[in-house]
Amino acid sequence: MNTYYCLDDSPRFEMIELNEIDSTNNFLKSYRPLQPKEVTLVTAEFQTAGRGQIGNSWESESGENLLFSLLIHPQNIKASQQFLISQISALSAKEALEAFTDGLSVKWPNDIYWHDKKIGGMLIENDLSGHTITNCIIGIGLNINQEKFHSPAPNPISLFQIIGKKIEKRFVLERFMKTFNTRISSLRIDGGEQVKQDYIQALYRRNGMHPYADETGRFEARIVKIEPTGHIVLEKADGSRHTYAFKEVKHLIPLNQETDIAL
Ligand code: BTN
Repeated sequence: MNTYYCLDDSPRFEMIELNEIDSTNNFLKSYRPLQPKEVTLVTAEFQTAGRGQIGNSWESESGENLLFSLLIHPQNIKASQQFLISQISALSAKEALEAFTDGLSVKWPNDIYWHDKKIGGMLIENDLSGHTITNCIIGIGLNINQEKFHSPAPNPISLFQIIGKKIEKRFVLERFMKTFNTRISSLRIDGGEQVKQDYIQALYRRNGMHPYADETGRFEARIVKIEPTGHIVLEKADGSRHTYAFKEVKHLIPLNQETDIAL
């Protein structure tokens, strides 16, 4: 395990580089340094039990991809505004990858997409105390150099599969951290207005009617807005509006006339 201050060499920041761990999110959950920093970043070359959303696992071949978690203690973000952290993280990941390719978007709430394929995802775990977020762990997996995927995930892709060459993962991480810091600082200035606008602009399927599925079945709708709580508001062709929390609605991609892929 390498432990040192890095990226901006700030004494408020600690970076820990691990070769192997069950999950970088799990590592930070039980990390209790004597002098905790404002920001702790942990990376791993391999996770033996990488965790995804909805209890899924996260596939990543050893050494090929960026696997990292950030621990922050955001004093200027209330618990009711926690979706801002998700928006900032997703935008920062998208912007970090944009040094290499276009065609990127953020699939609500915080997947990173290249056209209809998933290039990255995140698992954000907050500890709340009243209205305050005491600990926020932002775990991010970005598929960088992996050549093939073997898990049953419906649509994974890596940067290598897009651009045809392998790149230095640390470059993407540095860009991520820079953008993340800038965007978190911007909250003090405008309360998150720019983040919200940029998030809408970055959204996968932000224009037009697309297929979705909820508990009642398949339907077509357009995205109307994202609420500050993170709920998505969809409008069907008949004008009816429906508000969903994460997991209550799925994006569908038609495979052929009879079959859709649920994302
Ligand atoms: C998703 O399912 O889209 C979320 C994937 C999150 C994976 C990252 S990899 C680094 C961090 N550690 C984990 O165990 N999960 C997150």
